Amino acid sequence: MDHFALRNGVLHAEDVPLPEIAEAVGTPVYVYSRATLTRHARVFRDALSALPKVHLAFAVKSNPNLAVLRVLGREGYGADVVSEGEMDRALAAGIAASDIVFSGVGKTRRELHAACRAGIGQFNIESEEEGLELSRVAAGLGMRAPVALRVNPDVDAGTHSKISTGKADNKFGVPYHEAAGIFERLSALASLDMRGLAVHIGSQITDLAPSRAAFEKMGALMRELRGRGLSVTHMDLGGGLGVPYKSGEKLPGPAEYGAMVAEVTADWDATIMFEPGRVITGNSGVLVTEVVRVKPGAACPFVVVDAAMNDLARPALYDAWHDFVAVRPSGERMTASVVGPICESSDTFATARKIDAVAAGDLAVFRTAGAYGATMANTYNSRALVPEVMVDASRWAIVANRIEPATILAAERVPEWLE
Ligand code: LLP
Repeated sequence: MDHFALRNGVLHAEDVPLPEIAEAVGTPVYVYSRATLTRHARVFRDALSALPKVHLAFAVKSNPNLAVLRVLGREGYGADVVSEGEMDRALAAGIAASDIVFSGVGKTRRELHAACRAGIGQFNIESEEEGLELSRVAAGLGMRAPVALRVNPDVDAGTHSKISTGKADNKFGVPYHEAAGIFERLSALASLDMRGLAVHIGSQITDLAPSRAAFEKMGALMRELRGRGLSVTHMDLGGGLGVPYKSGEKLPGPAEYGAMVAEVTADWDATIMFEPGRVITGNSGVLVTEVVRVKPGAACPFVVVDAAMNDLARPALYDAWHDFVAVRPSGERMTASVVGPICESSDTFATARKIDAVAAGDLAVFRTAGAYGATMANTYNSRALVPEVMVDASRWAIVANRIEPATILAAERVPEWLE
């Protein structure tokens, strides 16, 4: 459920007609609904209310906008970060360092150092080598770093191969059968507080069975470690819950996910941690675009819009589907391919799809663009970096400026030997 709906024939974000924003800010522009963000944050939390001890860390990578982080921080979410940049954003948004989890397979020494100094709540380390390095960094600062060991459970999440992370041949975590030994060896280091295990098998997961299988394996590993006399107080189950991208699509939602987790973890006696991203932000945002023109094509017309794969990369990268709907639908439909202006054929949002009929100058949106949208934008073809707006009931504000090509050009230099 989201707060983007037609009112008097015009698509609104909460109480704001989208044409008002498009006119003031220009297109393309991402528009987020605060009420939707808040709602999703609460629905996810409520779905886990049967668990005695829960820690929620919003996966910043899905939407790192400062205003988004502020909303989620106020909802009591911590942050799951994967770089110093994301950590600094979470801190700038007012999220307590102790509520931040630092994930990622390639944390640099500098990042480990910065995160130790900031006093972040947990490092999810992905190798014994990283553990040893973190131990040296923490020792140098005279502190003990709180750590969970990320384990690769060798479970296929059944999602797109590019966003699957839990198979043995993926780069993530330590191999399941080596995990207990690594955990035990690292536990002997004075500068590490080895407190838990972490797992994340992929993103846009639409079937709960693989997650259940992975969590059960983690439970068995936890018991093995405790059997060796080691303390395991925190179990981080990652993120990954999918969202519907097509209208009418039925997927397991937070309630089913929460019930499954409650069942699997019933006797764990640990703080259960989560790193949800897409399920919170996905449906909270749309990408507003204007139709540049409609040109004939061999099989069907091309609707050329002013948004492109640099603004919303998911279709080009993962063949992802985003519903395309007119801001002022006439009720007429057409079959068309929706494409951007970038000079490669991967700049295609929809192929021979039945869509609302649109013409040059019309506004339309790509729905479910709040997760992995603006954050993956770039400036390919010397296009602007897309701006972001947040709506809150009848008010709205620009929460990220459009970065114009001229600003990017101004950061470049021609060396004197090319003068
Ligand atoms: N925790 C870890 C360790 C992760 O790697 C991720 C996502 C998450 C949590 C959050 O997952 P979520 O709840 O959002 O599924 N760019 C891709 C998605 C990449 C996901 C990477 N990791 C896309 O647009 O589909």
